[in-house]
Amino acid sequence: METIRVNLDSRSYDITVQTGGLRTIGEWAARFSLGAGMLMVADTNTAVLFGDAALASLAAAGFSPTLLTVPAGETSKSLAMADRIYEQAIQAGLDRNSAIVALGGGVVGDLAGFAAATYLRGVPFLQVPTTLLAQVDSSVGGKVAVDHALGKNLIGAFYQPRGVLIDPQTLLSLPEREFAAGMAEVIKYGLILDADFLTELRTDALAIMSRSPQHLERIVAHCCRLKARIVERDETDVGDRLLLNFGHTAGHAIELAGGFERFVHGEGVALGMLAATRLSELMEMIPAGTVAEVRSLLELYGMPVHCGGLRTGELIRHMGKDKKRAAGSLRWVLLAQPGRAVVRSDVSLESVREALQVILRVE
Ligand SMILES: NC(=O)c1ccc[n+]([C@@H]2O[C@H](COP(=O)([O-])OP(=O)(O)OC[C@H]3O[C@@H](n4cnc5c(N)ncnc54)[C@H](O)[C@@H]3O)[C@@H](O)[C@H]2O)c1
Ligand SMILES: [Zn+2]
Repeated sequence: METIRVNLDSRSYDITVQTGGLRTIGEWAARFSLGAGMLMVADTNTAVLFGDAALASLAAAGFSPTLLTVPAGETSKSLAMADRIYEQAIQAGLDRNSAIVALGGGVVGDLAGFAAATYLRGVPFLQVPTTLLAQVDSSVGGKVAVDHALGKNLIGAFYQPRGVLIDPQTLLSLPEREFAAGMAEVIKYGLILDADFLTELRTDALAIMSRSPQHLERIVAHCCRLKARIVERDETDVGDRLLLNFGHTAGHAIELAGGFERFVHGEGVALGMLAATRLSELMEMIPAGTVAEVRSLLELYGMPVHCGGLRTGELIRHMGKDKKRAAGSLRWVLLAQPGRAVVRSDVSLESVREALQVILRVE
């Protein structure tokens, strides 16, 4: 077991990473001095996989939890679904001391967190993430949101949880593609922050791919530690937190160009990281050959490294619409070396065009 403290003044909290921890969620929740009333939000997959065990442990610890199950998938990240949560919370008589618990991936975490931030102007929020992406990324840092018909994550808040409970064992049932997509974010942490971690990911690839609990616990805890340090420096996304956007400028454009069907988020990020690495090469920030290294690591974890069929102009147009665009020019997160990222706003359109060829053209 590992505990990672996120230091944010009065909003500080612990991330507990514990193999098998889900079975003791009741004892874990009991430490937060909450009321007995509790609303647990899961989706149609996580409710079936983990709902009973979680409810039993919470009941044994003296809570009276109710479970709300939302359809699996991004479409549940909506104001309409948040309204279902409010309705159930009101009917169950939840007060300001009652917690809302997210049991699921990033969709459930973002949705339940948004409801927790707004119901009664904020009630205690507990995160129990069950996808690799949610365990290493979305459950840490307090960004909560729902989507709007006109764009993703447009309605949201910064709202830190009281605590995060991560049980890496829940990842054993995760579909292969979702696991690989989460690995894209794991590799991202190595590329932007920690060269030693990159080496470890290369050396231990087989054990990690076979989801050895010991290895999962280690890499998940390490990613949480890296993200926690960044969030502590920049809680509201105005400085260093931007580095976490590595691979996401092109990545979002690729997701959009694929109609959000051809590529899941992590696959877009994998391709976007390759484009950003190539751009760093073209700007002579890193030695030629780094792209080949990054590509081989992504391939090792079963991620796509080409997106033939998409067009350069289309991707560039989509990038211009990215909400993270700085006034005037696009800010790119690039590599100063593997393990260290920097933000640059002096990137020419021509270089971007050329960099994109590394994923558009099959060599
Ligand atoms: N708040 C943040 O900082 C942040 C950061 C990154 C991404 N996000 C958001 O996260 C969302 C994506 O999250 P996601 O990738 O976890 O998607 P998701 O929540 O849709 O989960 C993916 C699929 O896996 C299923 N699933 C979950 N846990 C499982 C398990 N243990 N075993 C088997 N199946 C399981 C889910 O039911 C779903 O079908 C997006 O909406 C994105 O915007 C938020
Ligand atoms: Zn991401």
